[in-house]
Amino acid sequence: MWKPDRQHKKPLYIQIADHLAHRIGCGEFPPGSLLPSERKLAEQLDVNRSTVILAFAELRAAGMIESRTGSGTRVSTSKWGATPKLTPNWRRYAEGGNFLPNVPFLRRIREALLQNPQLIDFASGELAADLAPIQEITKLMSEHQYTSYLGYDNPQGYIPLRQALVTYLSDYRGIKATESSILITSGSQQSLHLIAQCLLAPGDAIAIEDPSYNYSLPMFQSAGLRLFRLPVDEHGVQPDDIRSLYKKHRIKMVFLNPNFHNPTGTLYSEERRQQVLDAASELGLPIVEDDPFSLTAYDGSPPPPLKALDSSGSVLYIGSFSKIAASGLRIGWMVAPHSIVERLADARQQIDFGLSIIPQQVVAQFLQSAYFAPHLERLRAQLQFKRDLTIEALNSELSGLIEYAVPQGGLHLWVKLLPDIPDNKLFEEAVKKGVIFVPGSVYGSDASFVRFTYGRAKAEEIQEGIAKFADALREL
Ligand SMILES: Cc1ncc(COP(=O)(O)O)c(C=O)c1O
Repeated sequence: MWKPDRQHKKPLYIQIADHLAHRIGCGEFPPGSLLPSERKLAEQLDVNRSTVILAFAELRAAGMIESRTGSGTRVSTSKWGATPKLTPNWRRYAEGGNFLPNVPFLRRIREALLQNPQLIDFASGELAADLAPIQEITKLMSEHQYTSYLGYDNPQGYIPLRQALVTYLSDYRGIKATESSILITSGSQQSLHLIAQCLLAPGDAIAIEDPSYNYSLPMFQSAGLRLFRLPVDEHGVQPDDIRSLYKKHRIKMVFLNPNFHNPTGTLYSEERRQQVLDAASELGLPIVEDDPFSLTAYDGSPPPPLKALDSSGSVLYIGSFSKIAASGLRIGWMVAPHSIVERLADARQQIDFGLSIIPQQVVAQFLQSAYFAPHLERLRAQLQFKRDLTIEALNSELSGLIEYAVPQGGLHLWVKLLPDIPDNKLFEEAVKKGVIFVPGSVYGSDASFVRFTYGRAKAEEIQEGIAKFADALREL
């Protein structure tokens, strides 16, 4: 996001030429690579095109770049390549490796939010800043000593946090865990990554919900896994779909998000929970239960997780602090058989030596404090309020053009658009109007769905944001 400094005494075109020369010198633009067009650079750097033309002329005179009509401007291969300094081709490295880049829409969302922080944000899947327990955490941090030990800690996780989670899991989720059956992770995302990398092998087949948050994670493809879909209806996935995927593809694991499912908000029915568990134990098939949203249940009583009903030991349970407190703390956990916890803790030792001890101490204190229960109560009321504002705005702006089910917990509203509009066009038009959302295709669904994360937007922006979205839709 570098921009030339207008107050500096060096002319803008020289600053730009120096900046480009530096990026070429670092190998960001290797010999032969195409530079952005003059028009695009002028737009990015907020200068006139003539300033970029002058900067290119400087670099051309230094033999660093070559322009050919019709084929753009490239880093010189002859003169520049002939200098004694040979820079590695960093772009080739950046595009190599086994780990796939994020899906294009998610990269575009990140870029649009960086370019315009004023966008009304219904896209980021997290809580708004004012819903995080900042004051409570600040108070706890001032009251406790946090630095009695700052060496490498147990890669399985800080013991007092695991102990606090044993009580939390029993009180809030009906799960009987012990501290040795808990692994602390850097959010649920790391739990998913560890499972994909350490418990499965390239070529293994897994089943994920359709639509699914997991569909937006190329991480599974990076691990060489083959993904098969389980359609989600208003009660959850169908157990017979699990059986038939097992028969056809010998799936090795099933990934489910049964409480206020991302993106649809679905809460699996009691009957479906039992049927899914029955299918898993009949096939000896592990279920990964990803449960970040359950404590947001607006009526204050989330149903028991699969893990609490699991009599055959089929469930690997994943929890997180991200959607009930703050995603930036990066605290998640997994409850699993001891052999799995040991294996994954060993992997953590090799990957990052475990999570930083400080957020683990903070969360252990917070969970045990008198602040936690009132925080949850406030969070639920605020989320429900934002849900209602969003629905009210959608009904007044887009009545007859949309369909949705009213979520009873979570942060998201999954909306079907009745007009058939390509999602990239709608997305770009909405961004132009000042609002951003996630198109349904990111979750593997067709183009006529969108996800609005009302939990992220500010209450006072919701009506305006939906009105802007409606404008974009009408325009197309
Ligand atoms: C269903 C689901 N699982 C996992 C995650 C990852 O969250 P975190 O790593 O912050 O716990 C998310 C985040 O949006 C999610 O929606």
